[in-house]
Amino acid sequence: MDKLVITGGTPLKGEVNISGAKNAAVAIIPATLLIDGVCTIENIPNISDIKISCNILEKLGAKIHWNDKNTITIDSRNITSTKAPLDMTRKFRASYYLIGALLGRCHDVEVGLPGGCNLGPRPIDQHIKGFELLGANVEVSQGKISAKAKKLTGNSIYMDVVSVGATINIMLSAVLAKGTTTIDNAAKEPHVVDVANFLNTMGADIRGAGTDIIKINGVERLHGDATYSVVPDQIEAGTFMLAAVASRGDITIKNCITKHLDCVTAKILEVGAHVEAIDGDTLRVWCNKRPSKAIIKTLPYPGFPTDLQPQIGVVLSTAKGTSIINESIWESRFQYTAELNKMGANITAQGKSAVFEGVDKLTGAPVYSTDLRAGAALIIAGIIADGKTEVYNLEHIDRGYENIEEKFRNLGAHIERVTE
Ligand code: EPU
Repeated sequence: MDKLVITGGTPLKGEVNISGAKNAAVAIIPATLLIDGVCTIENIPNISDIKISCNILEKLGAKIHWNDKNTITIDSRNITSTKAPLDMTRKFRASYYLIGALLGRCHDVEVGLPGGCNLGPRPIDQHIKGFELLGANVEVSQGKISAKAKKLTGNSIYMDVVSVGATINIMLSAVLAKGTTTIDNAAKEPHVVDVANFLNTMGADIRGAGTDIIKINGVERLHGDATYSVVPDQIEAGTFMLAAVASRGDITIKNCITKHLDCVTAKILEVGAHVEAIDGDTLRVWCNKRPSKAIIKTLPYPGFPTDLQPQIGVVLSTAKGTSIINESIWESRFQYTAELNKMGANITAQGKSAVFEGVDKLTGAPVYSTDLRAGAALIIAGIIADGKTEVYNLEHIDRGYENIEEKFRNLGAHIERVTE
């Protein structure tokens, strides 16, 4: 079992390069199943969710070649199976994108119900509603989901909740359908736009991604024979921005899209730290005094992202005064607060709200990451705490952050991965 051992107390200083977006890449890889040609994808984050996703595609008959550690070429012309191995799909959330992609391409699919971080109930009723409105029969039984259609025909689909996964999955299933599909109340996250841009580069006709109405005009085929570069990871960039504030450091964040980070920048300025956009893809974030309290509510994009809630929770745990976070997306995203309390924080979490009584400092302790972003938050906590912190359950962190300890080490953190 690996753990991270962190000796805290060093303000983070220097430059960090942001990797490609996990939540775009985990959709783009299954999306290649729709392509009748070969495509190359650059800026793929080298993380475990991507490796599993590629392994599943290979089992389905796709040929994958890693050109370097962040670039892959995928040839999905000869798919030999529409049944994804259940033990593999259960390992991560984004396996649900295999449903939309295989339904769109082969009109037939069977996958295990998706796994992923335990953040409370994670229904997929909106995905299913979309597939059915396009003409598919969907069945969920014995831990599997299967969908079949004689043909798929475009339709108007209204999303009852704003869902990243359902918006992307419906795009995947509709891209080769006959006629036009509209998704109303669509998610607007940068990764939704990136998947639409990828599909359009490969020959699709998707308009309006990034607004709440997406229109998909079905095309005969996606030609491939093109190269696409994944958008920089908004959440990884936000994680380092908040690490700069928490550690009272000074970090230049390179290869990010500054516009995607406006929601984080606004809160960082509110707590009294500084953000300077050096150009469209570089931000400097620094903090030279104790942050002040804030009130945060997580919301779909362009609101404050739930995937940065634990990281800003670390900032607020040592801020001056009493802060409140309301989590509006997931039922159980405050599990990390119990771990922060082991480090001397004073946080009371109940249901979807938490009250942070800011303390002067955190102290090192053994802590357990309960999910991916909780893990990132505990690393930041270890970096700002007095003494030694050990972070366990690294498999969560490795699912979504490329070279995280190396990136923090390059910023001056004392952090080592140790195998017990
Ligand atoms: N929802 C439904 N029905 C559905 C789908 C969603 O009620 O059919 C609800 C969910 O329960 C939740 C809300 O709608 O309350 C939003 O869920 P969404 O579908 O947007 O989440 P997701 O697609 O399962 C993605 C990211 C998550 C991120 C959320 C919200 C991927 C692979 N995962 O999940 O990322 O928290 O969007 O932005 O893209 C992470 O990266 O750490 C992570 C958990």
